[in-house]
Amino acid sequence: MNEIARQLNDEIVKGSQPLMGMLSEVGKNLFFPKGILSQGAEAKQKAHRINATIGIAKEEGGIMCLPSVTKSIDGLTPENSLTYAPSFGIPALRKAWKENLVTKNPSLEGKEVSLPVVTCGITHSIAIVADLWLDPGDVVILPNMMWGNYNLILSVRKGVTLSKYTLFTEAGGFNLEAFEAKVKEEAANRDKITVLLNFPQNPTGYTVTVDEAKKIADILEEVAAGGTKVIAVTDDAYFGLFFEEETLKESIFSLLVGRHENLLAIKMDGATKEDYVWGLRVAFITYGVTPCDNLSAIYDALEKKTAGAIRGNISNASHLSQSIVLEAMKTDGYWESKGAKGEILKARANKVREVACASEYEDAWSVYPFNSGYFMCICVKGVDAEELRVHLLDKYGVGLISLGSTDIRVAFSCIELDDVKELFDTIYKGVQELKG
Ligand SMILES: Cc1ncc(COP(=O)(O)O)c(C=O)c1O
Repeated sequence: MNEIARQLNDEIVKGSQPLMGMLSEVGKNLFFPKGILSQGAEAKQKAHRINATIGIAKEEGGIMCLPSVTKSIDGLTPENSLTYAPSFGIPALRKAWKENLVTKNPSLEGKEVSLPVVTCGITHSIAIVADLWLDPGDVVILPNMMWGNYNLILSVRKGVTLSKYTLFTEAGGFNLEAFEAKVKEEAANRDKITVLLNFPQNPTGYTVTVDEAKKIADILEEVAAGGTKVIAVTDDAYFGLFFEEETLKESIFSLLVGRHENLLAIKMDGATKEDYVWGLRVAFITYGVTPCDNLSAIYDALEKKTAGAIRGNISNASHLSQSIVLEAMKTDGYWESKGAKGEILKARANKVREVACASEYEDAWSVYPFNSGYFMCICVKGVDAEELRVHLLDKYGVGLISLGSTDIRVAFSCIELDDVKELFDTIYKGVQELKG
């Protein structure tokens, strides 16, 4: 094992033995190399005369750049857009995102979490978290309705077993009983489990209520207290788009941090969907460890291991993208404009609920619970969902996503209010036509 990795592991063990047992083999071996990067960082501070360390090109005291490139980048200097960002992400963005975490999640007040590490989108965060914390054969607990890409990232690429519980009760709430049974069943068979919590959810658009969230946290704490190491990973991709009164308005991460030394909370969130900059690929990984003597050294070690995983994977996320997001966050009116966009999506969700749940469609589908995010799902009756999808696309030019044989996902995030009724009328027509 590399000496730096050994030192990081020593710091982790000093404060939390369970945490060490949660790291994957790769995670244990990960470190942030001192070599060129730290020498370059040192030179940046001290080499006032000549700095010949970094692998970029300079001229006349500035960054070498092509006018054909810079003409498309207004308002950002080449230093803040074209040069490499650190593998950890640019410090000002990490700091600003952390400050906002507390604003967005009031229950985090007074709880110490790590400084977020920047990734290239939440998809990348999941892959990096998997590198650090999951070995082939480990289990990740997920609902039966989930974002399909988890399968590719965790199961296909990592060799992890996805263990699923039924998401909803018959009455239409989060199935706490099924969740608890699945968590306890897996905990009985192994000494470490990982639970992936995604609210607002893809594909259903469901976020747990405050009460359901508290109970999820209680269940995970109970299992951790029983001696199982629990890694609770939150995928907060659609954070902030909460449309109902009783819905939890913060990440369940905030309820999980600091509950037990056997419970590690990992938050994955990002600007991609929250700030409507999907293609900029800016996201974050933040750790919440139960307070212990060595907490800041542990966070430092975890951030270094995470940045090491990124260094060995994509090296660093786009500096241009990070600067654009940071500048947006500093701009007057940032929160107001986010709020205004959220209101547009909320109005669509309300309209979709009003239309899709109407009794005139009762014989064609039932509606899964939804209260947040970008999506909602219907369960079609008497026709195959994929056949219906293809039929609607071919005959009416209407594009939807089919999931399995019964479910259709509607992304109301990208339909205008005025198109909602027509959309569901068309789906209804399609169902009737297929039924013949
Ligand atoms: C639940 C969930 N997580 C993550 C992602 C991907 O997010 P990103 O674009 O930041 O990689 C998606 C979306 O496509 C998603 O639905």
